[in-house]
Amino acid sequence: MKKITIAIDGHSSCGKSTMAKDLAREIGYIYIDSGAMYRACTLFCMRQGLVRPDGTIDTARLEPLMPQLHVAFGLDAATGRPQTLLNGENVEADIRTMEVSSHVSPVAAIPFVRAAMTAQQQLMGAKGGIVMDGRDIGTAVFPHAEMKVFVTASDEIRARRRYDELCVKGEQPDFDDVLRNLRERDRIDSTRAVAPLRQAPDALVLDNSNLTIAQQKQWLLDRFHELTR
Ligand code: CDP
Repeated sequence: MKKITIAIDGHSSCGKSTMAKDLAREIGYIYIDSGAMYRACTLFCMRQGLVRPDGTIDTARLEPLMPQLHVAFGLDAATGRPQTLLNGENVEADIRTMEVSSHVSPVAAIPFVRAAMTAQQQLMGAKGGIVMDGRDIGTAVFPHAEMKVFVTASDEIRARRRYDELCVKGEQPDFDDVLRNLRERDRIDSTRAVAPLRQAPDALVLDNSNLTIAQQKQWLLDRFHELTR
């Protein structure tokens, strides 16, 4: 059977990665977390001292450094889990912090950063058989994806999920900071000039506010089987 392209977009912290990863595993597709790529770019900017105290990014210094910024994915040999590599270094834990979350949307709004990441994502998905999650996958990266899903959930529920996730990782976040961060990211992601977060007209909408992980997995699998039958 021909392998299709599946694009999962939506608001911050609504569980897209969990559902995309689960679906890919279940149907034997490759999973790509496009947000991890923008997070790795952000970590690179932080390490290079390109984030100004007011949170803006020194794009004039970043642009000539782009050839030195390589993001890739690998598998952790011990756990078998996917890991994000920044210039060959495993940065999976470092890119999930609140600090990276607080700078990522301005970095992801820079047109030359998007052009570089989009080109790489299109190469990764060129043969189909891929589930990619992000903000612009069904609109800009793979506008012809056979299956598009737009996911959302209420702000408070999304903030609670992200708060719990950070606590499990040993961070001690403030709930209101988490809520403010996801609202601010949604605002920047939806209003940027290049590839803003939008629901593609042909996307299936999933509000998972009141769904368990098992229920959302079943919902996605049912849609996938309907489309590929
Ligand atoms: O996991 P969460 O929903 O919090 O975010 P993420 O998927 O890790 O993405 C982090 C940030 O990267 C987003 O807030 C966007 O600013 C940016 N992003 C993007 O611009 N385009 C994508 N395709 C994916 C992420």
